[in-house]
Amino acid sequence: DPPLRDLAAAQGKVIGTAVTGSKLTGTYGDTAAREFSSLTPGNAMKWESVEPTRGTYNWAEADQIVDFAAAHGQQVRGHTLVWHSQNPGWLADGSWTAAQLGQLLDDHIATEVGRYKGRLAAWDVVNEPFNEDGTYRQTLWYNGLGTDYIARALTDARAADPAAKLYINDYNVEGVNAKSTALYNLVKSLKERGVPIDGVGLQAHLILGQVPSTLQQNIQRFADLGVDVALTELDIRMQLPADTTKLAQQKADYQAVVAACAAVTRCAGVTVWGFTDSDSWVPDVFQGYGAATPYDENYRPKPAYYGIAKAL
Ligand code: XIL
Repeated sequence: DPPLRDLAAAQGKVIGTAVTGSKLTGTYGDTAAREFSSLTPGNAMKWESVEPTRGTYNWAEADQIVDFAAAHGQQVRGHTLVWHSQNPGWLADGSWTAAQLGQLLDDHIATEVGRYKGRLAAWDVVNEPFNEDGTYRQTLWYNGLGTDYIARALTDARAADPAAKLYINDYNVEGVNAKSTALYNLVKSLKERGVPIDGVGLQAHLILGQVPSTLQQNIQRFADLGVDVALTELDIRMQLPADTTKLAQQKADYQAVVAACAAVTRCAGVTVWGFTDSDSWVPDVFQGYGAATPYDENYRPKPAYYGIAKAL
């Protein structure tokens, strides 16, 4: 079978995976390079990773992933600049004035985006800004700067790397619902105001048998606003233990998700959040769930892998 990246390229799509830099050797590295045309650092570009102590930067893992991608002709999605989670303690626990927060935001984006200028295809500039009901999440940034933090971050990112596509990324926004409609209204208003916004990321951390029926319609409505769409963190978790029936359902689910992207011209592609069950966040976070990725722990392709291939 041809690698997924060749199948995707023939459709004008990107197929990506989140990766852990330290694992990019041996079978893990070979598989990531062979099958995927885009890499997203799973953690390496988050603020707590790159600036654990104020003014002391650690770019080692992020640089390694960007270099690996360049060596293998892969894109990189930068993830992520402005988020409520995985911030360093010095930032999260500080008490900042609005002016200080704005300066921290500006400096962080100038530094990190500037470091990789010209080398990244896209940035998840703002991650997870909404609550489930479509109201704004009360974060360090929102509480200090109001909704303007989003436009400010996007404007900063554009200035630091005019070539990178700038995304807002969130979860539970795959189908048409209150949260995705809030995201839709935000993107619409940013476009109207001339704020730089190129795309929306639908994370797609899904549960077996629960691919939203409105996925393609939702992708299409964002496309019709004039932005790209990417499925940025796809995984489909099941209650353990896995069995043949569940793995067959998972294949159908992966195929349905990738087919929805393939059907919309402005859907740039799909990134899985870890390609192997040995490198997935799911078992750590969702009690009793796992087997969420297209490869098993021994790097053998699961039915889900063939579901992706079939949709491309
Ligand atoms: C997860 C990583 O995969 C884990 O290793 C880490 O412990 C927590 O974060 N939404 C996101 C990702 O945008 O950054 C998260 O990644 C998963 C949920």
